[in-house]
Parts: sequence; structure tokens; C-alpha cells
Amino acid sequence: MRLVLLGAPGSGKGTQATRLEQHLQVPHITTGGMLRGAVAAGSPLGKVVGPIMALGNLVSDELMLGVLEERFAQADTRGGFILDGYPRNLAQARALEALLERIGQPLDIAVQLDVGTDLLVQRLAGRAQAEGRADDSPEAVRNRLEVYEQLTAPVVDFYRNLGKLAHLDGVGSLDEVFNRIVEAIAPGTDVG
Ligand code: AP5
Repeated sequence: MRLVLLGAPGSGKGTQATRLEQHLQVPHITTGGMLRGAVAAGSPLGKVVGPIMALGNLVSDELMLGVLEERFAQADTRGGFILDGYPRNLAQARALEALLERIGQPLDIAVQLDVGTDLLVQRLAGRAQAEGRADDSPEAVRNRLEVYEQLTAPVVDFYRNLGKLAHLDGVGSLDEVFNRIVEAIAPGTDVG
């Protein structure tokens, strides 16, 4: 299974990807997670991306593609993957299509988790208290939601036009949302 998870900040991509990783036995590739790891390690990459992420802005396409290519060069991705956090704009969506074609791993499906803005803000405020993620401050959340609307939302149409989009309700318990995804990605299910 080669799967992209799409959705606004707080829509549950990371939460569901962790569960799907167990269910599908393929790696969860999280670009945000990889970047946070670089920031925590104080690596040269982390020093560049840390301030950008804290404001809720996107890291450059060129930098991100390099990170992604490196990850896809690792053997564990050959049996499939769950990609969470990429693509974030149309240029990234096209770059991903080209990369996956080059490595002979075409995408099966893009799953979009749909959650209204009020609930997104509420979830991220909850996580800000519980975990203290740098980009969960009210200002950064506001910016991340704007960046999503302006740059990432068009990616949904990109996959719809390819006939690969499953648009799902992301509201409900963790189990309810998980079950919806499992149903949508089951072989033989019509998407697009
Ligand atoms: P990234 O880590 O991708 O952040 P994001 O898209 O803003 O996503 P979140 O992690 O906030 O939300 P999520 O949808 O994963 O929800 P989650 O499961 O955590 O990116 C961070 C930054 O890195 C970007 O801003 C950018 O700077 C940079 N970056 C990353 N990729 C990039 C790229 N490709 N190009 C350029 N820059 C890039 O859930 C959120 C909360 O809600 C949790 O507390 C969770 O417990 C709760 N929750 C989840 N589901 C439910 C539910 N069903 N019911 C109740 N609570 C729930």
C-alpha cells in the first residue's frame, strides 16, 4: 500500500498514520517528524528549518525534496509507505509523482481527512498544553491554517483529478476515523 495522508494541521494525519503503520506493516514517513528530529538533534538541517517551522511556514521545496529522496532511498520503503506531511503544495505534488514514477512505486491513494476549523484549533490548543510543540502557539496555528488553505488545499484537487482521492470525514473518535480509512483503502473500493 502506497498512501498519502492529506489534511489541515490537527486533522489527525499523524495519529492515524501511527495506527495504519501497525495495520499495514509499512513505514510511516512524516516530513514534519523528520524535521522536528533534525531540530532536536541540532543538525545543520535543523538549524535552518527550526525558525521556519516555529512560525508555521513551509520549508523550501528544494530542501524537502532532498529529505524525501533520502528517505525513499532506504530499503524499508520498497514494500509501501504512509506519507504524512508531503506534498504541501502543487510543486511538491508534481515532484512526488515524478519521484514515485522514477522509483517504480506509483501512489495507490491519497486520503484526505476533513475537519472544520473550530475543531482543528481546539485539538491543537489541547496539544499545545499537553506537549508544548513550538508551532502550536495561537499565532503559529493561525499561520499554519492559512498556509494550508492557500498552498496545500489545491493538492486535494490534484489527486482528485488523478482519480486517486478518498475524501473522508475526520471528525469522530480515533477508532471511527481509523475504520473509515481502512474501509476507504480496502482493495476494490472505488476512489476519485
Ligand atoms: P507537520 O508535522 O506535518 O504538521 P501539520 O500538518 O501542521 O500537522 P499536525 O502534526 O499538527 O497535525 P496532524 O494532522 O498530524 O494531526 P495529529 O494527528 O497530530 O509539519 C510541521 C511543520 O514542518 C510545517 O508547518 C512546516 O514548517 C514543516 N513541514 C513539514 N512537511 C513539510 C513539507 N512537505 N514542506 C514544507 N514544510 C514542511 O492530531 C493533532 C491533535 O489532535 C493531537 O493532539 C491528537 O491527539 C488530536 N486528535 C487527532 N485525531 C483526533 C480525533 N479523532 N479526536 C480527537 N482528537 C484527535
